Amino acid sequence: MPQIPIIEPDAVGLAAAYRAVADGLLVGLPTETVYGLAADARNPEAVARVFAVKNRPKFNPLIAHVRSTADAHREGQFDERAEALARALWPGPLTLVLPVSESGSVCELARAGLDTIALRVPAHRISRDLLAACDRPLAAPSANPSGRLSPTAAADVAAELESDDVAMILDGGPSKHGIESTIVASLPGQPLRLLRAGAIGRARIEAVAGAKLANPEDRAIAAPGQIASHYAPAAKVRLNASTAAENEVLLGFGPDAPAGAPNLSPGGDTTEAAANLFRVLRELDALGPDTIAVMPIPESGLGEAINDRLRRAAAPRGD
Ligand code: TXA
Ligand code: MG
Repeated sequence: MPQIPIIEPDAVGLAAAYRAVADGLLVGLPTETVYGLAADARNPEAVARVFAVKNRPKFNPLIAHVRSTADAHREGQFDERAEALARALWPGPLTLVLPVSESGSVCELARAGLDTIALRVPAHRISRDLLAACDRPLAAPSANPSGRLSPTAAADVAAELESDDVAMILDGGPSKHGIESTIVASLPGQPLRLLRAGAIGRARIEAVAGAKLANPEDRAIAAPGQIASHYAPAAKVRLNASTAAENEVLLGFGPDAPAGAPNLSPGGDTTEAAANLFRVLRELDALGPDTIAVMPIPESGLGEAINDRLRRAAAPRGD
């Protein structure tokens, strides 16, 4: 496969990057922390490509990058603590985890089904130029294959990622901080919490907040998708079904699914299935079935992440 092109972030390059994002493709994007792999955060097909290219075994929630605090207000619910941090530290290497807004446009897959959202207003000129050109939030995890080091130069991204779905890497030179953003959660009824140490030190954040930061909850670090607020359907979930019993609705996958049944991917494509997963689960749940019976999904491609999510939805509930 040919290497992903590295291009100059001039007007021509930015226009090409905008078109790629609008077409649901991915762009390697310099930020002041590390290089990100950016996709239209509203488009679940594009976000599914991010997980596929990074080879993520689980749907970790992604950071939504926005142009301004005003744009961030449309996506997340700010309390006074979050307002103060945003005022002092945005644009910059701070990510705020907030309850998602009703007016939010970021797709569920980018949030991994959580009812919270991670938001950041980056300071890097090229990130800001692309956000302005795209006029929509960009979901961007670090542009490394899952489990590898975060890239701090365009050439790092080109050396490690291989996919036709990445249209280009915008060359922004070496990353200024070279370490990811600091992630702070400001959630109702909870102390401000440091979820990930990063480019802004704890002391600086505590000085702005006028309060000590709580540490990550162990469960939240180990697996963000497992925190209590994760979206699970109201219906029970049964895996590896071939047909639906009474009181069940069948969720199909692949060409062997019965015609007419909702199907995550009639062609058996796990990237397409990932893009459809949260929407279809929600639609089926709205029908009020006792159980959603899900046909087997192979572990290949994004199947591992889909099955991880479905196994958790199918696990015995605490209630
Ligand atoms: O500096 C950075 O933050 C870079 C640049 C590209 O902006 N991005 C980055 O993204 O490091 P990523 O996907 O590699 O890390 C995002 C982290 C993950 O550990 C994820 O679990 C956490 O953010 N995260 C995202 N949404 C969350 C949420 N709703 N609740 C808790 N953690 C969340
Ligand atoms: Mg990362």
